[in-house]
Amino acid sequence: MLEAEPAHLLDLAADVAREAGQLAARGQAGIGVLDTKSSPTDVVTEMDRSVEELIRKRLLNARPGDSVLGEEGGTESGSSGVRWIVDPIDGTVNYLYGRDEWAVSIAAESEGEVVAGVVAVPSRDETYTATLGGGAFCSGTPLRARDAVPLEMALVCTGFGYSTERRAYQAEVLRTVLPRVRDIRRGGSAAVDLCSVAHGRADAYYERGLNTWDWSAASLIVREAGVRVGGLRGAPATPDLIIAAVPGLFEELHDLLEPLGADTDGPPHAG
Ligand code: IPD
Ligand code: CA
Ligand code: CA
Ligand code: CA
Repeated sequence: MLEAEPAHLLDLAADVAREAGQLAARGQAGIGVLDTKSSPTDVVTEMDRSVEELIRKRLLNARPGDSVLGEEGGTESGSSGVRWIVDPIDGTVNYLYGRDEWAVSIAAESEGEVVAGVVAVPSRDETYTATLGGGAFCSGTPLRARDAVPLEMALVCTGFGYSTERRAYQAEVLRTVLPRVRDIRRGGSAAVDLCSVAHGRADAYYERGLNTWDWSAASLIVREAGVRVGGLRGAPATPDLIIAAVPGLFEELHDLLEPLGADTDGPPHAG
């Protein structure tokens, strides 16, 4: 039986994420679109696939019997109780345009709970890591989020889905949020956005419509940095809506988003 200690899983994930990040960084120049998925703007490059392949190979070589869920390759089942959740390139559109904000994200789930997470950001040479109950770090330095600020002083990150219908309503929500906060950032990588909150480079983050691989690693990192992560009305974060902010600010942002129906694709019904 292979070791399933969070620290052990983290070491493996960090090594693999760094190697994967180097491969992606070398392949970024001149990259083009290989395929599209849910819409013409939901693109995949050759590197999304090769990087995920490398990650799967390395993880399963080291730990045969584990399961893997990856954005590009789907599910591979094993029986060890450990499942790896992989986003090979989070921020593919940034990657395609030669921009810096993209990351390799790997989370390790043990018996259904995320116990270790790594987000490697090759353009900044930064690797975010966390284990459950063990704190969050950026390249070895402990992370603590910023103290709570009033909502109107908060720098808030968000992102948008790939479907035009969903985006139309996300723009409506944003129209109400923007005049109520310091400013908005749309970085283009959910994992980097969440790590920015963990790092004190932003105050809060919200997004509707993420997939498990976008936020599994980063939500552990941000929680371990003292940030509250959740959905609406006390529910846990779900693909419907994830909100991340330190206590105090979390409630203010929640109360702004809740009546807008920010967890839906249309205005809430009256009455
Ligand atoms: C996307 C990014 C983006 C977020 C989208 C995600 P991908 O992931 O995280 O910031 O707004 O919802 O789908 O496709 O670049 O891995
Ligand atoms: Ca993603
Ligand atoms: Ca991706
Ligand atoms: Ca994608």
